[in-house]
Amino acid sequence: MCPGRDWCSWRDWSVPGGCTQGRDGSHGPRRVAGGLPRYGGRMSARLVVLVSGAGTNLQALLDACADEAYGAAVVAVGADRPGIEGLARAQRAGIPTFVLRVADYPLRADWDRALADACDGFSPDLVVSAGFMKLVGPDFLARFGGRFINTHPALLPAFAGMHGVRDALEYGVKITGCTVFIVDSGTDTGPVIAQAAVPVSDDDDVAALHERVKVSERALLVETVGRMVREGWSVHGRKVKVGH
Ligand code: GRF
Repeated sequence: MCPGRDWCSWRDWSVPGGCTQGRDGSHGPRRVAGGLPRYGGRMSARLVVLVSGAGTNLQALLDACADEAYGAAVVAVGADRPGIEGLARAQRAGIPTFVLRVADYPLRADWDRALADACDGFSPDLVVSAGFMKLVGPDFLARFGGRFINTHPALLPAFAGMHGVRDALEYGVKITGCTVFIVDSGTDTGPVIAQAAVPVSDDDDVAALHERVKVSERALLVETVGRMVREGWSVHGRKVKVGH
């Protein structure tokens, strides 16, 4: 934990002698030295992005990272299934990929540990779940808690779970949106980092609404990750502050 504070941020664990443990002890040891590679003379945060499908959120991050001023680089893309467009996008961009299927492990905990090991192998500063349709377990959170973020296609805490868009539509809300949050041990229950509202149209079906939400989701994810890596962030209970 950072001396004199009950919170820590990316900056704390990215410098030699910085924070080695998260605010509630759940983060586990931090990699503290030499973690930030230099790209063209600038410091870039290392992102590992996890995907399960089309990977349009990943693509938005890849596009943003092409500008070194963004402050981050996608160093690996992981998936829970092979043959998806998200992996193809990474491969086309020349980024290393890994696939870990839950079914290939005797226990869910073994998969969770293997996923954490695979991510760890790329020394990420931040792990981004971008349409990754699996919940991680205690081992993963012990290593990446506080720096593992997710995007959800609804305004949490409303419509958590696998069907956020469908559930919002069925409920009849007039405004829905998207949320970027820090993953904790619950389902879409972690501290909210950023949100954006999206109007629901009378004639929307799930696909049309999801497409509209995803336009906002991609922009919000890119903006939020960029601000986090450039300005740092801190977590006080449920309150996340980006920048100091
Ligand atoms: C996003 O809406 C994400 O929130 C949800 O699945 C979608 C993934 O889209 N969990 P993509 O794979 O990034 O295109």
